[in-house]
Amino acid sequence: MAKNGKKRIGVLTGGGDCPGLNAVIRGVAKASMSRYDMEVIGIEDGYEGLIERRVVKLDWLKVSGILTQGGTILGTSNRANPFRWPVGKKGDEIEFADVSDQVVEYVEELGLDSLVCIGGDGTMAIATKLSQKGVRIVGVPKTIDNDIWGTDITFGFDSALQTATEAIDKIHTTAMSHHRVMIVEVMGRYAGWLALESGIAGGGDVILIPEIPYDIEKVCDVVAQRSKKGRRFSIIVVSEGAKPEGGDIVVQRVVKDSTDPIRLGGIGNKIGQEIEERTGVETRVTVLGHLQRGGTPSAFDRILATRFGVKAAELCYSGVGGVMVAVRGGDIVTVPLADVGGKMRLVDPNHPLITVARGVGTCLGN
Ligand code: F6P
Repeated sequence: MAKNGKKRIGVLTGGGDCPGLNAVIRGVAKASMSRYDMEVIGIEDGYEGLIERRVVKLDWLKVSGILTQGGTILGTSNRANPFRWPVGKKGDEIEFADVSDQVVEYVEELGLDSLVCIGGDGTMAIATKLSQKGVRIVGVPKTIDNDIWGTDITFGFDSALQTATEAIDKIHTTAMSHHRVMIVEVMGRYAGWLALESGIAGGGDVILIPEIPYDIEKVCDVVAQRSKKGRRFSIIVVSEGAKPEGGDIVVQRVVKDSTDPIRLGGIGNKIGQEIEERTGVETRVTVLGHLQRGGTPSAFDRILATRFGVKAAELCYSGVGGVMVAVRGGDIVTVPLADVGGKMRLVDPNHPLITVARGVGTCLGN
């Protein structure tokens, strides 16, 4: 509580950014100030700001005009974990310490009644542990990967889907002109949602997702059959986490001090080379990368982010903690934070969208 007797809440954005973070911050702050007369403190760079004591008071002016802005006005970090914070080096090895007690103390010093943690599964896992130490936390699920357990959808996904679909549309015309195989590698980590949905929306001939290991022969067959029928180009949408039957994912790099050290990427080039060698059809690869995380949020994401933000403010005002806001069947609900961490919402190989993709003759790699 603030010295003036008003309730005071904190808000942070953790993990990789995505479109719609600012829309949530605005939703939380505007509802808190105008509806519940609460004060709002922004924490800089996710949990890093709580560890390094960097905060900023959010007033009406600071959150005005940010609804349509990509990124996060608060900054973010996917390395800051109060339970495993790098404190030095022993030779080449980084040394970590648990600084969560200091974080809890700082939250008390700031007089925060509640903390809104906007992030992905890593952010939710840390939020769960902090809430077990007595911090009242409301989580808000974000990610372009759409892989957070407990919610039907995360904000950020729809905007990334638009970006990926537009890219596939553009790739389509050049593929047709040059009679090439064009491979588009999209993000998504271990979940194939982004590849599956952009592949359907963009009319991909082959869609490869992590949940369905692929057989390269089947993929090459599609290319060959299409050529035979006079369609001398093919579009292949591949998720960064896709892997061959009996094979492994392609790891691009390992970020040692990150909460989730594995960075995927490179599968597009791997299959591009294989397809060109096996079919003789000229092949090009486009990796969409962080383009998918940038730009203004779609109308859907702005609305979802605002719904999440307003609900989070309401929960903070009512003193509810240890929960994450979520969408279930179109309604905004809450799920226990403790249920979210350590799980992933993956594509079920029998999902209706897989049936739809197969229905129009799309190859899923098997
Ligand atoms: O989780 C979001 C995401 O963009 C993933 O799709 C991707 O694998 C990862 O983050 C990339 O992380 P970084 O921004 O650290 O390269």
